[in-house]
Amino acid sequence: MSGQAHIGTAIQEAAAHLTAGRLVAIPTESVYGLAANAYDPEAVLGIFEAKKRPFFNPLIVHTSDISQISAFAGPIAPALLKLAEHCWPGPLTLLLPRGERIDPLITAGSPFVAVRIPNHQLTLELLRQLPFPLAAPSANLFGTISPTQASHVAAQFGDRLSYILDGGPCAVGIESTIVKTGADGKVHILRHGGISVEELSNILGYMPETAVSLHNAPEAPGMLKSHYAPRIPLITGNLPALLNQYADKRIAVLAFKPNALIPAGIPTQILSEHGDVHEAARNLFTMMHILENTDAEVILAEQVPETGLGVAINDRLTRASA
Ligand code: TXA
Ligand code: MG
Repeated sequence: MSGQAHIGTAIQEAAAHLTAGRLVAIPTESVYGLAANAYDPEAVLGIFEAKKRPFFNPLIVHTSDISQISAFAGPIAPALLKLAEHCWPGPLTLLLPRGERIDPLITAGSPFVAVRIPNHQLTLELLRQLPFPLAAPSANLFGTISPTQASHVAAQFGDRLSYILDGGPCAVGIESTIVKTGADGKVHILRHGGISVEELSNILGYMPETAVSLHNAPEAPGMLKSHYAPRIPLITGNLPALLNQYADKRIAVLAFKPNALIPAGIPTQILSEHGDVHEAARNLFTMMHILENTDAEVILAEQVPETGLGVAINDRLTRASA
């Protein structure tokens, strides 16, 4: 077991550790990231070791300003630039041609690097002070539930991280939407996330296609079939049917809205009292963390409406259940 983590809001301290090649957890509006100097391959290697992450799974590079990107990636295709101008800082990640300064370790050998400008004041200030961008995957062990609070990071990594920059609970709560341009010049979605398909299509004027991939070396391994898995098996589907099917088990319930069918006295988390998908996204991983720490045999998770962020939520629930 690991000891006490160093948690705080000191940007200078976080910057000093990162400059020395050490790992720091950073808050973003989506989920917490496990960050290292993106120009330091040794430091980046530390991310893979700490997360126990396979090397075929590439990392997102974070920066504070669109003008910084040309130093390590680009050019940005017109359609992607349009999205970036609308959505950044925010939960959108672009696949761009990899520049010389980005080690292939970060991109898992791909000629494309994933780039985003996160929307969190502490992390933006940190990035502005650093003379290098930050490579950062979500700050959880590979395949487990993503962290949306500093305490989630501390529970998994303890003092194995030099510092956890505590930015409070994540405002969006679900990872960024990852997009790229196809051979047709159109935008394709590699991972559903904090920017909904509806938002993208409003900006683009057409509905972007989703590049689905179910094998084990997908283009975005966040798309791995089994991912975000709680310690207790999670089954997702229609709640009344699930309650019926698992009536003889010790269950816990993750419901979209309050529901009179849920038996009293069992561990229950309600994603949104008023059935709002944004609120549900914000609560999703925190509630999964709570339910995986109960003594239930199985977590029954209700699928949410497939609108807005509901698509990304259902995607995470499906992967958590694989
Ligand atoms: O919101 C987010 O995106 C968070 C915060 C910390 O920024 N980060 C995040 O990182 O979710 P991670 O590593 O858990 O997921 C990143 C996803 C992975 O599925 C990875 O395969 C994909 O991005 N990715 C990264 N670089 C890529 C590349 N060059 N080509 C294709 N996919 C890439
Ligand atoms: Mg992740």
